[in-house]
Amino acid sequence: MRFFVAICLSLEVAIAAARLENRQTLANIPDFVTKYAPLVYLDENEIYLPSDIQAQLTNTYPALNFTQLPKADVPSPLDLSDLEQLNIQGNCGEDFDACPIYLTSKINAATYPPWLNGVLPDPVTGETVGATSCAIILNDHGNGIVDVYYMYFYAFNLGDNIYGQLLGNHVGDWEHSMVRFQNELPISVWLSQHEYGQAFTYDALSKQGVRPIIYSALGGHPNYAVPGIHSREVAIILVNDTTSAGPLWDPTLSAYFYSYTPFSDENENGTFVGSEGTTPVGWLNFEGRWGDEQYPDSDPRQVNYLNASIAWEWETGPTGPLDKDLNRTDVCPSASGTPCVTLTVLPASSGSSVPVTITRTTSTQSSVPTGTGGGSSRSSSAGSTGTSTGAAATHTGAAVSLNINIGLGLWGAVVALVIL
Ligand SMILES: *[C@@H]1O[C@H](CO)[C@@H](O)[C@H](O)[C@H]1NC(C)=O
Ligand SMILES: *[C@@H]1O[C@H](CO)[C@@H](O)[C@H](O)[C@H]1NC(C)=O
Ligand SMILES: *[C@@H]1O[C@H](CO)[C@@H](O)[C@H](O)[C@H]1NC(C)=O
Ligand SMILES: *[C@@H]1O[C@H](CO)[C@@H](O)[C@H](O)[C@H]1NC(C)=O
Ligand SMILES: *[C@@H]1O[C@H](CO)[C@@H](O)[C@H](O)[C@H]1NC(C)=O
Repeated sequence: MRFFVAICLSLEVAIAAARLENRQTLANIPDFVTKYAPLVYLDENEIYLPSDIQAQLTNTYPALNFTQLPKADVPSPLDLSDLEQLNIQGNCGEDFDACPIYLTSKINAATYPPWLNGVLPDPVTGETVGATSCAIILNDHGNGIVDVYYMYFYAFNLGDNIYGQLLGNHVGDWEHSMVRFQNELPISVWLSQHEYGQAFTYDALSKQGVRPIIYSALGGHPNYAVPGIHSREVAIILVNDTTSAGPLWDPTLSAYFYSYTPFSDENENGTFVGSEGTTPVGWLNFEGRWGDEQYPDSDPRQVNYLNASIAWEWETGPTGPLDKDLNRTDVCPSASGTPCVTLTVLPASSGSSVPVTITRTTSTQSSVPTGTGGGSSRSSSAGSTGTSTGAAATHTGAAVSLNINIGLGLWGAVVALVIL
């Protein structure tokens, strides 16, 4: 309905409406949002660092079916306050996977242009100086429960190196942590990792002062609670995410802050309000992808691993924060159907990421009181934005869907992919 109305508006009216929305601001950002915000250790060998969100627009053009959208159809300048206007060009409805707009690198991404590298945090303050690389989104569920999403942006995701073959490169990379607060105190923390992630009690995590310490893994930037090697399966091969205490990033120092209010109708997106009149809002409603579309197998840049159509060197860029299950019931996103387990003890600091101690969390403490059922419909890639919108997405989700260690064997996954 809302979408229908949106496409009936002229571009000018829609842009004016977006600007008007910008003038509304949050009364304040509660202190606990920054006080308990996770600090992120990047890997010591990381070269694909956090990146300015607006710079992604500057360094790309919007494409549909591998063809640049006509300039006349694109707001000029295209910036974070009007990016959502592209939804109209893509005829994007409620299904993210059906939104065919791709922010495509102006310079061939396979030449690894320098803009993909992002910005090294200041060694003293941890700030990505001159680069707003994080969006912090509050969802106040009422009854003292507030979820704060720390959305981390990187311009590029370097794929896994499988014995010399890179698999899963993509332009654009959204990852996140989410801290659930009760009466202004942190209770639990979600860490996005590839298509899903891990939840911990706040107490379990390492801290600097009262701020949890998390580790962003080399290349793909999934978030882990400890440094070391974290193995997972990709196409029956064990691949290893590496985390270490490299550069320390304080995402709160260069971030946009928002509140998010879900609509009552589960099929529609919600309302974002920025912390300041100048905070751009429209981009949060963009339903397209933050990087190039997966190159076809016929493209010389592409490698279809073992010709099996389960993993490619170049995959599709991710959807944005709106697709992260922003109104989730548990601290875990509700998307995967996997039970939400909150770990109370850190895993060993190297070796496998298989949980050491597991506590099934069913207490009302870590669940939204009124929450019954699935939360938002915007939940398809609620884990990380690593590659795509998850197993049910286009074929680009194939490589990561194989890592879901839930008894879905390789061939089951292959069959599922064929069906998809
Ligand atoms: C995409 O473009 C190709 C040729 O460039 C064309 O054959 C194909 O029909 C187009 N697909 C869509 C969905 O427009
Ligand atoms: C909300 O979602 C619709 C699609 O469901 C999209 O077209 C629209 O741009 C989004 N944002 C707003 C403010 O309606
Ligand atoms: C990941 O680590 C395991 C165990 O050390 C090793 O057997 C495997 O070869 C590594 N995988 C890759 C892709 O290097
Ligand atoms: C993969 O398939 C293509 C055509 O389908 C073929 O030309 C190529 O030799 C195959 N490569 C391998 C490694 O099997
Ligand atoms: C959002 O979550 C609340 C529980 O906190 C629930 O009552 C509401 O129906 C949800 N809204 C949507 C749009 O899913």
